[in-house]
Amino acid sequence: MKHTLGSRPAGNASAHGSVSVPRLVFLVGFMGAGKSSVGRALAQQLGWKFEDLDERIVSREQRPVERIFRDSGESEFRRAEHSALRAVLSEPDAGGRIVALGGGAFVQAENAALLAQASAVTVFLDAPVEVLFRRCLQEQQVERPLRKSEEEFRKLYVTRRPYYSKAAFRVETGDLDVVAVAGQVARTLGLRASD
Ligand code: S3P
Repeated sequence: MKHTLGSRPAGNASAHGSVSVPRLVFLVGFMGAGKSSVGRALAQQLGWKFEDLDERIVSREQRPVERIFRDSGESEFRRAEHSALRAVLSEPDAGGRIVALGGGAFVQAENAALLAQASAVTVFLDAPVEVLFRRCLQEQQVERPLRKSEEEFRKLYVTRRPYYSKAAFRVETGDLDVVAVAGQVARTLGLRASD
């Protein structure tokens, strides 16, 4: 089922009808969606931990994302990404965790299946493709091997959007104010700092 802003909270209804709050939330979406910055702000608002899957990959592989792409190719990056996701899912989440996935992670069927098996809560951070491209241009410090020409960027976005749309929730980030979007995600999921 798809929920948009202001819809009912996520969480599993128990046999007694009460709703448990999610403890592990995954932010998905295209490059430039704000997954990492919103994830950090959200974790801070909730007093939860934040994790960036790309950072975990870099630390496990001991080389930057663009080096993995350049030296070993995208398929090796996807293997490392899947393995990092497995590691994240195998860890306990007593205090709650927000995880930002890289733009291609949720598109890979085996990753989506892992998240579904784990009953993970997924939130699609959405924005018009021209806004995403502009944000990526502004974030020159982030190396993105798959951000090529605007035309290729748009094509990849069109191919991937149906996959992101499979996330349980969608939040618009058009005029991204990171703190405000984080607040929207929290409200959408029914999460508060005390949860
Ligand atoms: C990728 C997006 C990047 C990173 C890698 C591949 C993609 O993450 O995982 O460069 O396939 O779209 P961001 O979405 O955080 O830029």
